[in-house]
Amino acid sequence: MLSREDNELLCRVGPGTPMGELIREYWFPALPSREFPTADGDIKRMRLLGENIVMFRDSEGRMGALAEACPHRGASMYFGRNEECGIRCPYHGWKFDVTGKCVDMPTEPEDSNFINKVRATAYPCRDVNHMVWIYMGRKAEPPPFPDYEVNTLAPELVSEPNIMMEEANWVQNMEGDLDSVHLDWVHKRLHEDSEPPPLGSNGFYNPDPKPAKLDVVRTDYGAYYSGMRKMPDGREWHRINQFIFPFHTMITVGPVVIFRAFVPLDDHHAMLITQAAMPNGPAFDDEYNQLQIDPFKEVGGYIERSHDPRSYYMTVANKRNDYWLDRDVQKDRMYCGIPFVLNLPDRAMTELMCGADGEPLYDRTQEHLGTTDVFVIAVRRQLLNAAKQRRDTGEAPANVADPHLGRVRMGSFLLEAGADWKAEVAERLDPDNGLPVAADLPLII
Ligand code: FES
Ligand SMILES: [Fe+2]
Repeated sequence: MLSREDNELLCRVGPGTPMGELIREYWFPALPSREFPTADGDIKRMRLLGENIVMFRDSEGRMGALAEACPHRGASMYFGRNEECGIRCPYHGWKFDVTGKCVDMPTEPEDSNFINKVRATAYPCRDVNHMVWIYMGRKAEPPPFPDYEVNTLAPELVSEPNIMMEEANWVQNMEGDLDSVHLDWVHKRLHEDSEPPPLGSNGFYNPDPKPAKLDVVRTDYGAYYSGMRKMPDGREWHRINQFIFPFHTMITVGPVVIFRAFVPLDDHHAMLITQAAMPNGPAFDDEYNQLQIDPFKEVGGYIERSHDPRSYYMTVANKRNDYWLDRDVQKDRMYCGIPFVLNLPDRAMTELMCGADGEPLYDRTQEHLGTTDVFVIAVRRQLLNAAKQRRDTGEAPANVADPHLGRVRMGSFLLEAGADWKAEVAERLDPDNGLPVAADLPLII
């Protein structure tokens, strides 16, 4: 439970808000590289942290992100022309390069120096391993680019990003990833031998869903935890997930590195972006990557985009059609009858949370957190402390200046009863020792 003030502070990301300014300290993923297949290709609209921007790849292949409104008289640069290393506003022909510099102002006299006085708001971009990252902060010099494994491995060892738009505040969505216990419920099949549902995966089956015991470790880059479950043979299964400032999670779903971002478009929409990495190979093949590009095919895929970025990566199965809930499946096969295709059931759990009067921001003054919510509590506290500290002292978390602190892994381990789990797993959570991803997953059967 949070006070109303803290709830607002935690969730709101627009310019000038404490959390929005904290997030702006970081490089973060914006859109996949495949949206910009060619130099001088189509300009794309985007919306990030409540700001409308346009993104484009210039003649030399560099990515640019500019405020959508032209600095002259506010026309949308989306309608502009992408030509010769810059975009030209369609209204009066002013032209800006990827740095925001005005490089042509055809409406002014030749001897005018007005061109040197006007700049477009420009955000630096980096195109790395299938993903375009952006820095929307205030510093003239962006911080070091993060060396997460998805950014440092050879491109063929990192998957195409899969993306899902979520019609809810980013924190609501992310809290689902911080919650190991929901696996035993929303994602479970009813019986070990339940008939597979017609759509989506068959889910998890845990014969003894006693609540996992959570043990949280706060760190200088965020936090991680073990969700420990006792196995029938007496051993202990530790599923260890990471939270990395400002909105990344790493969850264990198999022998791959999973890196996620919950990127806020505004206070009520966020994109869940997931990339997988195979540090020790093999390379991802075309079939795998195609599946990431169109992961919701069996539940209708994505809706046709409108001019509004909030329609990008919006699935056909969504809250307007109950996410294709099948009550018959719910009766005798799956605990939740929503097709288990990526995070579709999770979205149903979090998108309909709301505030007083149906306001879409979830009202955390009304909730009742229990013992299995300790990681959710810890991450909220980490985020709130970081945003307040930045607001009050200007100091950002240590992983802004030193992103290497967040170069970590998630993992899943079967350990002897009573083992000192932190000591036992430390080596395997460090990507730099050549060891494979730890993925003992006894309940995925
Ligand atoms: S509004 Fe863009 S050049 Fe005039
Ligand atoms: Fe889930």
